[in-house]
Amino acid sequence: MDTRKLLQIANKKLLKVTNRPDIVIRKGKGMYLYDTEGNKYLDFVAGWAVNSLGHSPKEVANAIKKQAKTLVNASPAFFNEPMLEYADLITENSCFSRVFFCSIGAEANEGAIKLARKYGAVFKKGASDIITTRNSFHGRTLTTMAASGKTAFEKLFEPKTKGFSKAKFNDISSLKKLITKQTCAVMLEPIQGEAGINLADRDYIKELRNICDKENILLIFDEIQTGMGRTGKLFCYEQYDVEPDIMTLAKGIGGGFPLAAVLAKENLNIFEPGEQGGTYTAQPLAMAVGLAVLKKLLTGGVIENCSKMGSIIMNELNSLSKEYEIENVRGMGLLIGFDLQKTKGADFVNKCLKNGLLINAPQEKAVRLMPALTVREKEIAEMFTVLKKNLEKK
Ligand SMILES: Cc1ncc(COP(=O)(O)O)c(C=O)c1O
Repeated sequence: MDTRKLLQIANKKLLKVTNRPDIVIRKGKGMYLYDTEGNKYLDFVAGWAVNSLGHSPKEVANAIKKQAKTLVNASPAFFNEPMLEYADLITENSCFSRVFFCSIGAEANEGAIKLARKYGAVFKKGASDIITTRNSFHGRTLTTMAASGKTAFEKLFEPKTKGFSKAKFNDISSLKKLITKQTCAVMLEPIQGEAGINLADRDYIKELRNICDKENILLIFDEIQTGMGRTGKLFCYEQYDVEPDIMTLAKGIGGGFPLAAVLAKENLNIFEPGEQGGTYTAQPLAMAVGLAVLKKLLTGGVIENCSKMGSIIMNELNSLSKEYEIENVRGMGLLIGFDLQKTKGADFVNKCLKNGLLINAPQEKAVRLMPALTVREKEIAEMFTVLKKNLEKK
């Protein structure tokens, strides 16, 4: 079908949920996407930090092919082989001993919220409130929208789930003021992604852990964006030398395949049968893919590459900031943000798109780079050529 026809279908048949450019993507390979008109795009968004091994990596393609020939779906009522091998590998390589597999980030966060409330019900006389942070993003289900600190969500789809209060990010006294007898957990992203790459301070996270221990409150890390090697360690909590009680993962965990997980400490193995689940939980295809992605991350030098390439990008951005409108360069590994002094983020993204580069602007001034963890120096150089072309001088 030609592009014009495809775009007519897009306009007439899809329930509109977001603004998309008039481009239809046909193919992805490594760091590049290709559209139906034959245009090529250098991808520094990676499906929003999803395609950790690049587009259509052989590990993911082979895992899908092999598993599809063996077992696509059994039933969530049975164990399956890749589920158990994967559960073993992911827990052995984290500080958690239990895992629940599902399909998307919001579903994982809902699971974490339910687990925290169950903990409150069992151990804290029914405490059910959760403190999250301002400007945070935890998903688009009604409960995860309620948990998110995004102001644009506040008045939408009321009534939302009750029981969330929002502390100022990186501010311990703001958090302390919100703790009550009803509090069962604190939930946050160690690096706020959608808010424009806001890094939690080390002292803040350490203090948070101490307070949670003292008050018997669970600490939940939403590592949907920061997990699976993105920050230069397998999990971002390792960067802070702190262990959360619960961690959620999605995005990079499946290398592009829908997959998410809730990981928890042993004392939180407290759901009764039927309280948590879903048709596609621990679905064999997803399990085989997740296992293949994790094996690659553990053995392939990919995470080391992430740290190295991240430093190269940050150094170059810092040096460009002397001449160009770039400021506040920040990030960890390959989750990098900077602000633009003059150009609006969305305009900058569009200009780069016209030059075949995909980047993202999560906030009005903030630009975010989150390429595949396998990005190479020559692709970084190509990205900077386009950035420089579109940046205003100071
Ligand atoms: C930190 C964080 N949590 C949760 C989500 C929601 O994940 P999903 O879109 O897979 O539901 C996102 C997605 O951007 C995210 O960045």
